[in-house]
Amino acid sequence: MTSASNQVYPIIWHNDSVSLIDQTRLPNEYAFVEIHRSEDMALAITTMIVRGAPAIGVAAAYGIYLGAREIETDNRNEFLQRLEQVAQLLRSTRPTAVNLFWAISRMMRTAYESIGTVAELKQTLLQTAQTIHAEDLQTCQAIGDNGLAVLPKTPQKLTILTHCNAGALATAGYGTALGVVRSAWREGRLARVFADETRPRLQGAKLTAWECVQEGIPVTVITDNMAAHCMKQGLIHAVVVGADRIAANGDTANKIGTYSVAIAAKAHNIPFFVAAPLSTVDFALIDGSQIPIEERNPQEIYQVGDTRLTPEGVEFYNPAFDVTPAELITAIITEHGAFAPSELAKSQPKQVV
Ligand code: MRU
Repeated sequence: MTSASNQVYPIIWHNDSVSLIDQTRLPNEYAFVEIHRSEDMALAITTMIVRGAPAIGVAAAYGIYLGAREIETDNRNEFLQRLEQVAQLLRSTRPTAVNLFWAISRMMRTAYESIGTVAELKQTLLQTAQTIHAEDLQTCQAIGDNGLAVLPKTPQKLTILTHCNAGALATAGYGTALGVVRSAWREGRLARVFADETRPRLQGAKLTAWECVQEGIPVTVITDNMAAHCMKQGLIHAVVVGADRIAANGDTANKIGTYSVAIAAKAHNIPFFVAAPLSTVDFALIDGSQIPIEERNPQEIYQVGDTRLTPEGVEFYNPAFDVTPAELITAIITEHGAFAPSELAKSQPKQVV
């Protein structure tokens, strides 16, 4: 929802359903989809009506509650068994963003640890989903403000390049990478955003550009293969991207193409920041080689609208994410401050799950 201040809220809980901004229709259509059932939430995540690591975590949390409320039994054990099936369905939607699994684990832990009747348990699950939702908004605002401390001091007004969409649409609101952009804009430290269009799904061209336009933030869209050239021309002062999963050593999975932006930034001595909540850090993984990478339908590559781009008879490879090695990352900006990737482990005790 956009309010008078044009803030974007992609997930809204009503009395008995969840409204999602349909991100597959932006920027041409600003429409909502009403979700009443956990199966529909799973489909909305798979089809990317809702997308972005923190946003799919929040959506999955509500999905658990929607599934819980459909379970007709007063028997606690039976309820928990059937809730586990709901969790499994939601876990199977997208493999890379760890926030999805983090939020489902938190919901399931609530279910297992809460005492009381099944009816009371369902209410506790709704409250937990709402808490996860509200916390994400606060977390993003903290990430945005913490980013201000590490951005280059000169020039006074920076041009920041970002990849994909790590904005309000990808979170409960405000955004992670775009949270840093928003805070910089508010403090008079931002000249302009350069948004990579982000093939194949064009989240930069469609979503990041749309968000910037909503708030009057100057934005220039470039194709992905223009980023290095723009850096060489001196147009970019910093890169800020989001993350889907960060391993304990700081290796970071984010939208496909992020790795090449990081290499280009290193080559041009431009700081490269990852902005993400601590729920995106998977301390169980030693390094990025263990991060599961989603592969999506090749149609995303070969078809734009109704038009086929390539001849029949070719093969495709469509990984949705890549892993940027920690040594290319200047700092990881979290709600608890910015860390050099090698220092990330020090933030672990503060993590919620
Ligand atoms: O496939 P998507 O659109 O869900 O990928 C989104 C990204 O890669 C984002 O950069 C990431 O999830 C961080 S969102 C704050």
